[in-house]
Amino acid sequence: MAATIIDGKARALRLRAEVARGVEALRAETGRAPGLAVVLVGEDPASAVYVRSKGKATREAGMNSVERRLPAETDTATLLALVAALNADPAIDGILVQLPLPAHVDAAAVLLAIDPDKDVDGFHPVNAGRLATGMPGFVPCTPLGCVMLLRDVHAHLAGLDAVVVGRSNIVGKPMAQLLLAESCTVTVAHSRTRDLFARVREADIVVAAVGIPGMIRGDWIKPGATVIDVGINRTDSGLVGDVDFASAAAVAGAITPVPGGVGPMTIACLLSNTLDSARRRAP
Ligand code: GUN
Repeated sequence: MAATIIDGKARALRLRAEVARGVEALRAETGRAPGLAVVLVGEDPASAVYVRSKGKATREAGMNSVERRLPAETDTATLLALVAALNADPAIDGILVQLPLPAHVDAAAVLLAIDPDKDVDGFHPVNAGRLATGMPGFVPCTPLGCVMLLRDVHAHLAGLDAVVVGRSNIVGKPMAQLLLAESCTVTVAHSRTRDLFARVREADIVVAAVGIPGMIRGDWIKPGATVIDVGINRTDSGLVGDVDFASAAAVAGAITPVPGGVGPMTIACLLSNTLDSARRRAP
């Protein structure tokens, strides 16, 4: 039986509509709309596309979008001063510094400088710690979107075997924490994992975040498993995920496509985090 295709685009539109209603309610209550600041350093074309679509989605949700574009040669001190100004600005509820930053910038120092309570990306170590210890904080947008999709497929996640392939701070590690919080039994696999095939083959839930086009194939997937593909790889044949979609969809119970799966959820979760931040800040 062919897998259910998980429609991340439709789910993201529903979440964005829900956020827009929340923004309207907050505005009616406090007279103020949430504000999201996005900082882009340099001319990387992919980053410029992401930043444009984040700004558009922010405005469509009824929030204020502040874009700060800085030249590629901007130094760390200038960026730290900008972050400090955004931290102090009461009209700003969320701050996102688009990654990657140019190599000469101390990216860790910049991320550490963001007020954890405006860190809607959830990349600050304080928010990573909050997530790891079950305290309220900001959760990175991509894994948060993945969990929302998983909850739609599985009424009960508790007890399921999940494998996360990839251990980045942005996706793999927070994804593992979120699945653990859902009481899954979690394996984090990576480039040094022995017998990766066997690990994936045992899992009820597979989250692929490795950045290698089509690496995970149908014969790796346990029949009926749910497959969440976080990969966005630009190839000659267009955008493809980390999962070989055609062969995996023949075996899986449910699977996200690329594009139209996890990607749209990331921006929707960014808007949701920004609304949460504004609500927490409301008098
Ligand atoms: N670059 C690619 N994805 C992201 C993201 O989610 N947040 C930031 N800040 N940079 C990114």
